[in-house]
Amino acid sequence: MCGIIGYVGTDEVVPVILDGLGRLEYRGYDSAGMAVLGADSIRILRAEGKLRNLEQRAYHEPMHGTTGIGHTRWATHGAPTEANAHPQVDASGDIAVVHNGILENYAGLRRELLQDGVELASDTDTELIAQLLGRESGPLGERVLRVMPLLVGQYAVVAVCRSEPDTVVAFRQGPPLVVGIGEGENTVASDVTALLHRTRKVLYLENGEFAVVRADGVELRDAAGAPVEREVETLDWDAGRVEKGGYRHFMLKEIFEQPDAIRNTVRAYLDADRSGVNLDGLGFSTEQLGKLRRIHLVACGTSWHSCLVAKFILERLTGLPTEVDYASEYRYRDPLLGDDLLLIGVTQSGETADTLAAMELAVRGGALLATVCNVRGSSSWRLATSRMLTQAGPEIGVASTKAFTTQLVALVALALALRASRGLADELDRKLITDLQRLPMAVEEVLRTDRAFYRLGTDILSEATDTLYLGRGILYPIALEGALKLKEISYIHAEGYPAGEMKHGPIALVTDGFPVVAVATATATRDKLLGNLMEVKARGATVLAVAESDADDVAEVAELVLPVPAVHPLLQPVVAVVPLQLLAYNVAVELGHDVDQPRNLAKSVTVE
Ligand code: G6P
Repeated sequence: MCGIIGYVGTDEVVPVILDGLGRLEYRGYDSAGMAVLGADSIRILRAEGKLRNLEQRAYHEPMHGTTGIGHTRWATHGAPTEANAHPQVDASGDIAVVHNGILENYAGLRRELLQDGVELASDTDTELIAQLLGRESGPLGERVLRVMPLLVGQYAVVAVCRSEPDTVVAFRQGPPLVVGIGEGENTVASDVTALLHRTRKVLYLENGEFAVVRADGVELRDAAGAPVEREVETLDWDAGRVEKGGYRHFMLKEIFEQPDAIRNTVRAYLDADRSGVNLDGLGFSTEQLGKLRRIHLVACGTSWHSCLVAKFILERLTGLPTEVDYASEYRYRDPLLGDDLLLIGVTQSGETADTLAAMELAVRGGALLATVCNVRGSSSWRLATSRMLTQAGPEIGVASTKAFTTQLVALVALALALRASRGLADELDRKLITDLQRLPMAVEEVLRTDRAFYRLGTDILSEATDTLYLGRGILYPIALEGALKLKEISYIHAEGYPAGEMKHGPIALVTDGFPVVAVATATATRDKLLGNLMEVKARGATVLAVAESDADDVAEVAELVLPVPAVHPLLQPVVAVVPLQLLAYNVAVELGHDVDQPRNLAKSVTVE
């Protein structure tokens, strides 16, 4: 979703902002803009569409200065036009702001400002923040202190003021903001990927706080204006991990990074002698574990699919009843909470608004709160009492790949640890721990598959307008994930369905040549799935299947088998999803789509 960058230092700020916005492009946006402070001026440039439009304007209308702010906007209030792009300014032109989030009291504030005779130049809620700051007087930090209580909703705002050309002020309630601490310069961003190449020292703003940022220091204050002391953190990600490294797209690079990402995640949770799972860092007390009777998993998008897989694993390994919810539903459905419940928020970014709200709800209801997250220091990381970090490293492609497979691995480790804590560990645990360590090799084998398999699959799918992905049991969520991957980046309609349910509706779609993709690795229900495939085949479907290369029964039904090595059934989702990622990727490239930044999608959805 929207991206924010702010800089104050000694470098020319326009290239710094454009570079920062480039690094935030992956979040998804539809217009961009920047404000540059001069000795007694604020100059604004904004452009609809991709960043290159803004770059061209900056080339033709050069601006100079060493303080500025920039933004990529994903439209919420108002169409993605130049007038609605950020920065937004107040009536006097003294204040410029960029904003991520949504103001819920937009209508009331707008009415109030119009009654005051303020002429509004855009349809955005962001402009209201600029106008409110402009209505106040005094230093920008003090104006922010007076305006913050007037704002209801979610916001991460970075503002500049004409009379303070050496200052950027940042404040937040909801969406994240981080200050990158440099030598003689400081950077503010909505996401660490925008500042990793400048510094690895960061300061996260908490909700309700604001930061007055100058080249020589950062003052952090709370909502009452009192100074806040916070330790500067040092990130362990390096900038090289947010480069394409010779790959055509981030998504492809990230698919190929999966063996390492999985290996690192497995290692993070194995005991030193690799015979058991070590979750000491999770910080569950014996008393909490003793009370535990139920698990709820909440998430959005691809992370929700890992929860669906995890339900099978957690119930099988721990015996604890496990429910899975979309976070956006959970937060409003009045779930049954209590201290016998473990709620796990699964989120690669740690910033998804609905997931955070669901987690907050569970804490208020007394539940034990854990997160499986890919970003140390993110909002879900700070909110949860128990945390599991997936070791995927930065994921830039909007379509999630390595974050997904590492979530699955982390959730298996969590299930094994809970199982051990309940005294259930036996031979199965030893087998799973051995197989977990072999998983990276299994994924490597999938990635070595002859490209010819993907050529045929790509040809079939790229001609289609509709497709059906089928799976059963623990592989049904993989059918959902495969379908999501295809629709996200190729814009071909793809529906994931439990194979046994398919004849209660979707089979009506099947005619001659209709593509059906089956996740058909060896589980207890593969025969049932094969029966379902015969049903669609009898109606003319072209079947593509993911299966072990020696699965002759699948090869008899399918036009094409995308081969995977045999692994334990509970680990098959990790391996089976990889051919589906590659298939979707190849189809999107074939159709000429923007793989890393698909239309309308955002990497991290920080509004409800
Ligand atoms: C967005 C992304 C998806 C992601 C979902 C949840 O929709 O495009 O790829 O799965 O958000 O994100 P999270 O960061 O909470 O896992």
